[in-house]
Amino acid sequence: CGIVGFTGRENALPILIKGLHALEYRGYDSAGIAAMTEDGLRVIKTRGRIDALEEKVREAGGLHCTCGIGHTRWATHGEPSDANSHPHLGGDGKIAVVHNGIIENYLELREHLTARGYVFRSETDTETVAHLIADLHKESQDGDIAKTVLRAIHRVRGSYALGVVSLDRPDEIVAARRDNPLVIGLGDGENMIASDVTAIIRRTRKYMILDDNEVAIIRPDSVQVFNAFGEPIEKEVRTVTWDMSAAEKGGYEHFMIKEIMEQPRAIAQTIQPRIRDGQIVFEENGLTDDRLKKANHVHIIGCGSALHAGIVGQRVIETIGRVRCTARVASEFRYENPIVEPDDLCIVISQSGETADTLAAMRQAKEAGAFAIAIVNVVSSTIAREADGVLYTWAGPEISVATTKAYSAQLAALYLIAGRLAYARGKMNEEEQRAFCDQLQALPEMLEKMLECKQTMQYLATRYHNRSSVFFLGRGLDYAAAMEASLKLKEISYIHSEAYAAGELKHGTISLIEDGTLVVALATQPELYEKTVSNIREVTSRGAEVILIAGSDFSGDESACRHVVRLPECPALFSASLSIVPLQLLAYYVAVERSCDVDKPRNLAKSVTVE
Ligand code: G6P
Repeated sequence: CGIVGFTGRENALPILIKGLHALEYRGYDSAGIAAMTEDGLRVIKTRGRIDALEEKVREAGGLHCTCGIGHTRWATHGEPSDANSHPHLGGDGKIAVVHNGIIENYLELREHLTARGYVFRSETDTETVAHLIADLHKESQDGDIAKTVLRAIHRVRGSYALGVVSLDRPDEIVAARRDNPLVIGLGDGENMIASDVTAIIRRTRKYMILDDNEVAIIRPDSVQVFNAFGEPIEKEVRTVTWDMSAAEKGGYEHFMIKEIMEQPRAIAQTIQPRIRDGQIVFEENGLTDDRLKKANHVHIIGCGSALHAGIVGQRVIETIGRVRCTARVASEFRYENPIVEPDDLCIVISQSGETADTLAAMRQAKEAGAFAIAIVNVVSSTIAREADGVLYTWAGPEISVATTKAYSAQLAALYLIAGRLAYARGKMNEEEQRAFCDQLQALPEMLEKMLECKQTMQYLATRYHNRSSVFFLGRGLDYAAAMEASLKLKEISYIHSEAYAAGELKHGTISLIEDGTLVVALATQPELYEKTVSNIREVTSRGAEVILIAGSDFSGDESACRHVVRLPECPALFSASLSIVPLQLLAYYVAVERSCDVDKPRNLAKSVTVE
């Protein structure tokens, strides 16, 4: 979900709407706006897309205001509905609140506030905050809403980014944050709040990051920030360095295809700054050879595609670094009693840098004494700031909910870490490191070549888009890549799909194979070609139709496969970076064939800040 707020001299409505559109990529199922109009505080909100909100605003005769807040909601407490959408009004409607996060003690607060006569109109946890602020504000002598918000958040348990407006101070927005991102955009005679800078960049490049437990008062001509004790504090003013065009579609039909095509550049930007004179260098993040040598165990943590990148990373690190490495599901990490020891290395992977499960797991690993290095795309995100060191992927803003270029950049970052780790542990000499760097630096060009299969994949999508179930098979690195390929397909096309270790399918799941089942097999590791071919035969003899993604020198028997897509020539260790590309394209074109909402698949959010 996303928050945006504006206070200034111009009509705030179009600015808020544009801000909400910019935040759409975070995923949402409803949207709303609270505006300080001449007729008082007005809230318009609806289930559905921002277009539906705009329609509702038009029907209501527009909203003229110079100060307002907006929200896109991704349902947690209570189904997506008009009533559960934000903003929520507190008390007698003089206060409106937008919120991201979860109020853990909301039931307790709801009971308390109901007993005090407040009437709840939604099932959300947020509405308790709105009434709580209204209730505490009754005692305020001077109408200072910031003071009230400060008092209110002391009674709240959980995570929040809050935007609050009150009729008592019609040109003022109060913002507060704990464990949920919020930035303040600094303009000329106008200021903004937003979940991230994509929502403010059309108006200003200057911004501040609100930190945990801080409260800010935003007016057209001033921004004041206070700590948890209400004492004023100075904040660093930052500047957005990337270009707005990077956050626009640039002529492509969808962000996803634009981002797929941007992958060579994305990985070049991850790799280039870290290779100097044939050596991998990590000056920026404290990942010293000593640290890489000392680690007894490398833990990799992530969710979704970041986890899949980690699974590739595990195989690469164990293969060339010869150190125990375990990729772990972030949301399971603290419940599986992981053995984490001081000096262990914890690689935390997150595009957004805000994923709640990943953040929680990282905090736990750090507490156990591990050194946490974060592979993150969003600069100054929470995970980036809390990690011991950061390896930014520099893939640029990724807007499509289904990740492509950030995933590829994460793989590149993992190859960098694995290479240096192998060198630091004496498994690779200087010459070998040089050769490894050369291969890594050639990867963007190989990816460029891989993208040439675009039309083939589009054709295959027209043939297979109507299948109800698809299996992805591979061994070793190919199995890891198969997991990501399967997730890509299912998340945007809604076709059921599963990834299986090619040798494991026969132990049960093969019973699901029938005439016409589509199987995508990956065989990019020469030593496994023959074994994978046997597994392909097992499914074709039961009626499956197979698309094979094969290494350039694939020498196995192709006769059982309907289609073969070959990788350009590339060392087997790096094949995972290439084999995913045709399968991202397949997922994309299948989703397009099925008229799915490619960039904003149902039920999904780009950045999941709830556990
Ligand atoms: C969400 C997204 C996935 C993503 C995962 C982790 O579930 O839909 O595409 O892989 O979060 O996100 P992160 O920002 O931590 O990489």
